[in-house]
Amino acid sequence: FEKAFQGGYAIGAFNINNMEIVQGVVAAAQAQNSAVILQVSKSALKYAHPKYLKAMVDAAVEETGLDIALHLDHGPDFETCKECIECGFTSVMFDGSHYDYEENVAKTKEVVEYAHARGVVVEAELGKLAGVEDDVKVDAANATYTDPDQAVDFVKRTGVDSLAIAIGTSHGAYKFKGEAKLDFDRLETITKKLEDAGFHNFPIVLHGASSVDQKCVAMCNQYGGKIDGAKGIPAEMLRKASSMAVCKINMDTDLRLAMTAAIRKAFGENPAAFDPRGYLGDARNMIQELVEDKIKNVIGSTDSMK
Ligand code: G3H
Ligand code: 13P
Ligand code: ZN
Repeated sequence: FEKAFQGGYAIGAFNINNMEIVQGVVAAAQAQNSAVILQVSKSALKYAHPKYLKAMVDAAVEETGLDIALHLDHGPDFETCKECIECGFTSVMFDGSHYDYEENVAKTKEVVEYAHARGVVVEAELGKLAGVEDDVKVDAANATYTDPDQAVDFVKRTGVDSLAIAIGTSHGAYKFKGEAKLDFDRLETITKKLEDAGFHNFPIVLHGASSVDQKCVAMCNQYGGKIDGAKGIPAEMLRKASSMAVCKINMDTDLRLAMTAAIRKAFGENPAAFDPRGYLGDARNMIQELVEDKIKNVIGSTDSMK
């Protein structure tokens, strides 16, 4: 993160659920000579099992020699964080953003103490992610966006290593009804206040950062899908965030769409095919292409392994 902060780029954090996603993302990182974060949600842990995920990531590290972080995404409680740390994850997120402030501080601190004693870093979240909709009043938006003074207090009191903030992004494929808008002024204020409080180059995390490529959506729909009105964060906004204090950018929806588009196309064009290596291989290639484009043209982490 320190290198990313100083270099004006961000590291991509991609959600993994199976082997094809791991291989697609890692092949892209290798082709771009980039560090990468592979992250696993609670539901991914349930789907694929921690040991399988850890073993696949170990294989990727061994094969490529890249700096790959294995990160728990949106850890819901202390127990899940502990389970992942014991399994060998290098980083965990505790997401206490839905708790009231004092409870978020207390629960995050507990995870930080446990993790730091074991050499594992912790991400936490402050503010609630929500889409910016045309009819959302400023006051309502302010109520869910991260408060800059509270962010400083939170970092001070929890000892957290990075902070996910709410500035207008949201999870999933339907982020905006009207124009896409992020509160960059708020990001700047948070960074400045952290700097003034002695947290030099403090890394900020942006969740809900998929761009929802319209070509990919069209491809899903062309081959029988029904994804209407999906809209994501424009690439130029992510480039801007990466050049600022945002050091980690989370993307999952874009991978899901790419994978689905490739599989739908394979089935649509060849209804007689039933070898999973065919359509899953296409999905893996499409993920690689997508992630390479992100690394090179959006977040700018190409050659971060140098
Ligand atoms: O932020 C959430 C990620 O997109 C993970 O989603 O819980 O369905 O795996 P999931
Ligand atoms: P997207 O839904 O925009 O891909 O966000 C993923 C994310 O934030 C995972 O934590
Ligand atoms: Zn998220």
